[in-house]
Amino acid sequence: MLVLGIETSCDETGIALYDEARGLLAHQLHSQVDMHRAYGGVVPELASRDHIRRVLPLMQACLQAAGCTKEDIDGIAVTTGPGLAGALLVGASVAHGLGLALGKPVVGVHHLEGHLLSPLLADPAPEFPFIALLVSGGHTQLMRVGGYGDYSLLGETVDDAAGEAFDKTAQLLGLGYPGGPAVSRLADFGNSGVVQLPRPMLHSASLDFSFSGLKTAVLTAVRRIDNSCEQARADIARGFVDAVVDVLEAKSAAALRQSGLRRLVVAGGVGANAQLRARLRERADKDDFELYFPPLHLCTDNGAMIARAGLVRLRAGARQAGSFSVRPRWPLAQAATV
Ligand code: KG4
Ligand code: ZN
Repeated sequence: MLVLGIETSCDETGIALYDEARGLLAHQLHSQVDMHRAYGGVVPELASRDHIRRVLPLMQACLQAAGCTKEDIDGIAVTTGPGLAGALLVGASVAHGLGLALGKPVVGVHHLEGHLLSPLLADPAPEFPFIALLVSGGHTQLMRVGGYGDYSLLGETVDDAAGEAFDKTAQLLGLGYPGGPAVSRLADFGNSGVVQLPRPMLHSASLDFSFSGLKTAVLTAVRRIDNSCEQARADIARGFVDAVVDVLEAKSAAALRQSGLRRLVVAGGVGANAQLRARLRERADKDDFELYFPPLHLCTDNGAMIARAGLVRLRAGARQAGSFSVRPRWPLAQAATV
């Protein structure tokens, strides 16, 4: 079964072709980051218009790279939420128009389910069950994944997401948007321990997270330094990354302990973070658990993860027929049944 995946939930247009037998045949991505940078964040209307411009050319490029025609497609998977309503509607309209024209089934995919299953695109892929640490721009969650569609939420952020904290810290340090990779690079030049920042909820019994206090602490630290001093800014970046990584590591280890599982899967944009990857690898060696990440280029939003998650739903006979809608707000638990 050959699945076309379409992702347009935020500021990346992602298209991919995933074949059940042969794996990922091709994927194309256009990031709108340069367009939104001038505004310091995503402008929804601009995002929708840009998706309209990009979807079909990216699809053509994908078909060409895979050596396929659109008639070879057996099913279409599209992100239908959560995300920006206008942006989601672009992908959904194209998916349904194409489905109707080709007479092929269309399934809606939950964006977080896409992230959650993205480590299945790696080789070797994890087996079920596993604990998933989902760390993106909009979400920070720990989940127990028993199988396809079997997702139990163990803990989540009570305020900001980890990616959001990276982006806000980047803004405070004058590093622009989006900030995750830039903060990570600057932190490499900083010294640990020079700037001590709080580790919110580190010792709480729950598996929930909180990152908004950390952001305020970064603001206070930035006000104390001479902003033209590169080393001082790097030390703050280091202090921030150390704090986030400490919390993510400790809560992931606690989730493994509490669930009795020995397999951790990390997904979402912050899963691309080098310091987090290194720390979790050390912890996996020490505590003797298996650790999986998606391929680096598939950590952030992409069409491949949507095609992969959609394949499961298409195989299970799911269909979105006739009229369609998108769900800008959509708890993953409500999308759980395959
Ligand atoms: O999963 P994603 O692409 O989009 C959402 O669904 O939110 O995640 C984007 C987030 C942004 O906040 C970005 O700053 C962060 O992931 N990010 C990183 C890195 N690469 C992306 N954060 C830390 N280190 C990175 N290398
Ligand atoms: Zn995402």
